[in-house]
Amino acid sequence: MSVLLVILVVVSTLAVVAATVFLFFLGSVLSRIYHSIKPHVTAQPPSLIPSLPLFRHFPATARVAFRPLANFPSPVHRIRIPQSPVSNGKDLVFSVKRDDLVSTSLYSGNKVRTLQFVIASCEAHQESYQNAKLFAIGSAGSNQVVCALTYGKSVGVNVDAVYLKSDLPDLDNALNVVSALSIVPKSRINLWDNSSGMWKLLNALFRSGPDRVFGMGGNSIAGTLGQINGALELAEQIESGQIADIDALYLPIGSSCTFTGLILGICLAQYRGIKAFQSPDFKIVAVPIHHTFAGLHRSIGIYKAEWSSYIPTLPKYNFHHVSAFLKSIGAIDSTFDLEAAAGDFLTHHVDIVADEDIVGLYGVHSTRSLRAASYDTLLQVFDGTNKSEWSAESQPPVPWICGHFVGKPFAVLLNDLERNTRNGVEKHLLLWQTKSAIQPKGPVDEWMQVKEVADDSKEFGKWLKESQPHSLLRRGYIDVADGKPEDYQFIMKETSLI
Ligand SMILES: Cc1ncc(COP(=O)(O)O)c(C=O)c1O
Repeated sequence: MSVLLVILVVVSTLAVVAATVFLFFLGSVLSRIYHSIKPHVTAQPPSLIPSLPLFRHFPATARVAFRPLANFPSPVHRIRIPQSPVSNGKDLVFSVKRDDLVSTSLYSGNKVRTLQFVIASCEAHQESYQNAKLFAIGSAGSNQVVCALTYGKSVGVNVDAVYLKSDLPDLDNALNVVSALSIVPKSRINLWDNSSGMWKLLNALFRSGPDRVFGMGGNSIAGTLGQINGALELAEQIESGQIADIDALYLPIGSSCTFTGLILGICLAQYRGIKAFQSPDFKIVAVPIHHTFAGLHRSIGIYKAEWSSYIPTLPKYNFHHVSAFLKSIGAIDSTFDLEAAAGDFLTHHVDIVADEDIVGLYGVHSTRSLRAASYDTLLQVFDGTNKSEWSAESQPPVPWICGHFVGKPFAVLLNDLERNTRNGVEKHLLLWQTKSAIQPKGPVDEWMQVKEVADDSKEFGKWLKESQPHSLLRRGYIDVADGKPEDYQFIMKETSLI
């Protein structure tokens, strides 16, 4: 009996020690990724300061390296679902912040905002370390990887991709890997079934060499500045009367970069007295897209808990580091406690929707998001901040409601909108459209590369084949054995990359 007890005590002690070591290692990896690419700050601002809301309202930030990549501000469009049966035959109307349309020639989406600051810091880094390697990490469906490869190539920064895992099969995910293989040679794409990518990553993180890693989803101090600018941009669109003030903003949470940047930006807009976000009930409705994080939020409230400020990438961690950075460069004075303001906003003005039926599994539609996304063929874009530019040909496309990200908050928005409309409640709801409208096709023969990679990895070919389309608007297929490039290339757009 006593021997059994001793064994039990030893085994449980070892288990606790192993778990502690693992958590410590994980924390160290996450923190090294978050801080790998630091914002590059110059002694003086550039002679020509781009007209960013962030730079105008907080001039000291103009010293932070910034590379304009696309056309901002992104427009806000009004979208209608006509005569919806679920709202007693009334039209459903909501607004969309169209980050998906910021580039017509390369790539769009929320990650471009992040990258404008991150890539500028990479350019500065590469000036000092010409041989530095830069790794963009993500899972197979990552838009961040496509964005970093696209713009890295366009500005001359060498970015390699490291895919940490495959996602569940879905055409949108598969297309992103195909896009990556159209931008750079396959030797620079490390697939998930090849451990060499992981070793390169650990080497970049733990050896004090020149190699650097883009944070997951671009989440880092520099990346968050881009999202702060997004909130200030929307604040200006509201203040100038281009759009009515909003009651609720819906968005997905991946790495938390966009979510935390928008909260910080809203707090900074309020601090500067910009007349926006003034509805007493104003809130952000955010949906974690990963089932594990959603589960952790349901059980221990990870997105809002006080202790979460110690966990790299979570909102409170990001609030702390970004606020400290802005103070250190003199962008905000010491009388304003941005970190506390953001924490207060998170507590009182944010609904995290982590329901299992909304979140489903990471990387693909949940049942609820698939049902909501099936409305995409009915959506009508009918008004917007850039309306005067529209002609029959330039009528904007409807948003791409992907299952990986934006479909999940869209499902919540639709639900709220239907209920409000049925009950005659008028609320101005806005969806932050994060998925790019463009699926880029770079200069490399991607079909040849896809087939070569699939020859080496049968699992990759099988994954592509199983990646089914979920929208009537994009019914493509990628089958290396029996298919042809025309089966999916109609969804892609040739970029101006050479
Ligand atoms: C289309 C899309 N939406 C939302 C997100 C989530 O943004 P974040 O990682 O900043 O939370 C991502 C992240 O990659 C994305 O690609």
